Formats: sequence, structure tokens, C-alpha cells
Amino acid sequence: MTSSKVEQLKRDSFGRVELVSDCYGRWIRRVACGGALPMSRAIARALLRREARALQALDGMAGVPQLVERARFVALASPDGVVPHPDDVLVRSYVDGTPLHRCTELPCDFFERLAELVRQLHARGVAHNDLHKEQNIVVGQGGAPHLIDFQLASVHSPDSRALAKRAADDLRHVAKHQRRYLRFTRVEDERWAPAAHLRLDPPRPARRRGAALVWRKTAKPLYNFVTRRVLQRRDGEERRETRGPWPVWCEPVARRN
Ligand SMILES: Nc1ncnc2c1ncn2[C@@H]1O[C@H](COP(=O)(O)OP(=O)(O)O)[C@@H](O)[C@H]1O
Ligand SMILES: [Mg+2]
Repeated sequence: MTSSKVEQLKRDSFGRVELVSDCYGRWIRRVACGGALPMSRAIARALLRREARALQALDGMAGVPQLVERARFVALASPDGVVPHPDDVLVRSYVDGTPLHRCTELPCDFFERLAELVRQLHARGVAHNDLHKEQNIVVGQGGAPHLIDFQLASVHSPDSRALAKRAADDLRHVAKHQRRYLRFTRVEDERWAPAAHLRLDPPRPARRRGAALVWRKTAKPLYNFVTRRVLQRRDGEERRETRGPWPVWCEPVARRN
């Protein structure tokens, strides 16, 4: 029998995300065991089914995890020694890379490639619905974008209005990340300077820029104070701090392949 190692990557009120390694490779195992909150396991299982449905719809697509037959993973004990209930388990392929908020280098066409990947998802009728979190975007070893965490994803008929609306939201989040990274990221090599044509959204009109500035300088600090200091929460997720460190732009993904 092959020996497998199970490490915990994340624990929250809905369950655990684990990395399973053995001589065949690495996989991600989600265990929807819930937590202390009532109903958390039922909700976690519903989210797990949602993820499974989305990954089935994306079968064979590059840049997203593949659903893996869970049979040989269900009997493995978690690091706390508990063997999960089979219905709590989803296994998907592992992406070798770094979450966007932790990467130190970023190909200058990264966000363009990411938007392309997100559009491919939509072409299959799938909206991700959780792209405001940098954690769910992984920069692969070769610099190509990957998406993970399809718990909130929805599957639609490709020409439905619901998909159109959610697709626009997904792309808006990608454009928002791009704006933020363009605002703060250093350009060391001017060949890779992010040219204006890479912008996914046109620069905002002065009136909207003014409104955004007023929000950043007034209401946002208050909102951050209440959510982070008073309520002690930050969407429960890590993100890149505005003070950095920020990645440096490097050679486009398109030139590497
Ligand atoms: N396929 C994967 N490849 C690499 N890292 C992953 C993968 N899936 C998850 N991770 C790591 O585990 C963390 C939690 O996984 P995720 O699916 O985002 O769960 P959650 O729904 O709890 O946010 C991710 O932020 C990432 O750091
Ligand atoms: Mg996540």
C-alpha cells in the first residue's frame, strides 16, 4: 500500500482544506465536516456539491482543478487522526503555484490571461462568483493564471441572463485586481512595463475617480476599523497589504510558451 501524507492548508467554520501527497503526486482534499456553528456541516456539504457540479462542467479545461475520483482518498486520516465521512470529501487536482497575494513576480500580461481564463469558464456556463479574493487566484510555476475554490460557483445555461450578470461581476473583480496591482507594482524592466492597452477596463471618468477617492479617504477607513478592529474579521481571508511588498512585473506568459 502507498503511504500518503495529509497536511492541513486551511481550517474554517465549514471544514478543512488538505494537501495529500503520495508517490503519484499531490491532491487537494476538501473535508466538509463543519465546525462549532449549528448547521455548518449541512451548509459545507451543500457548498461541496456546488463545487463538484462546477468542476464537472469544467472537466478537461486547463487552468482550473480537475475533479478526482475520491475512493482512494476517503480512508486517509486527517492530521488530527480523524477519518472523514465519505460524503464530506471532495478531491481535486493540485496546482503548483503561489496564490496571487503572495507572489513576488507577475508576468505583465497576467491579468489579461486571467480575464481570458475567466471568459472560458463563462463559455462553459460557469460563473466563479468568488474572485474578489486573491487567494482563489493562483500564479502557476510558469506564470500562467489558475483558478481554485469553486464552492460559490454557479452553473447556468450559456446564454442566460443570470450568467451574463455573474460573468460581468467576475470580470469586474479581475479588472479591480489589475487596477490595484498596476497602481502599486514596480516596473523594473521597461520592456515589461504594463502598457496602457493591457488595461481590462478603461480609466474611470474623473467624476467616478473623485467619488472613489472620497470613499477611500473617508468611509473606507471607518468601514475597515469597524470590520477589522471591532468585529475582528477581514472576510476571513488573507490579502496583499497596500503597503506591500508588491511583486515586480516580468516577462509575459505569452512569450514563455
Ligand atoms: N489546487 C490547489 N493548488 C494549490 N493550492 C491550493 C489548491 N487548492 C487550495 N489551495 C490552497 O488552500 C487554500 C484553501 O483552498 P480553497 O479551495 O480556496 O478553500 P476555501 O473555500 O476554504 O477558501 C487556498 O487559498 C490555497 O492556498
Ligand atoms: Mg478560497
